[in-house]
Amino acid sequence: MAQNILVLHGPNLNLLGMREPDIYGRQTLADINSHLTDVATGMGAQCHVFQSNHEGVLVDRIQAAAGEHIDYIIINAGAYTHTSVAIRDALAAVSIPFVEVHLSNVYQREAFRHHSYLSAMAKGVIVGLGAYGYEAALRFALAQ
Ligand code: DQA
Repeated sequence: MAQNILVLHGPNLNLLGMREPDIYGRQTLADINSHLTDVATGMGAQCHVFQSNHEGVLVDRIQAAAGEHIDYIIINAGAYTHTSVAIRDALAAVSIPFVEVHLSNVYQREAFRHHSYLSAMAKGVIVGLGAYGYEAALRFALAQ
């Protein structure tokens, strides 16, 4: 069973709650993170959370995970999903299985959101379920 989960949030997700709430919901990032931490703790596991607006900082955090016995990564890379070969390469380099999450259904939105550099490497992808998508990904990861 996975014991150590790292949840990564990319750019602008620090603004959840006030950022386009009709698309991204009204829960803040702190609400989401504390719920995920509670779920993990309740199952005897640990959930580490991290957000950055900076691509290189996210790359550094993924690289650091390799030395931290992280069993699974849950990542919403935000807009970097659609642009970042560097984040994809970092995930490939550490070989930690991951689930890609998007709050919104990116396939109902602009065409530039339909391509992800991460999806082909992900164990699974969850889109459009709002904050519940993170919880679903966490419960899946904890069951592996
Ligand atoms: C997002 C979708 C991305 O296209 C967008 O750039 C985000 C959030 C989502 O969670 O729906 O920042 O990843």
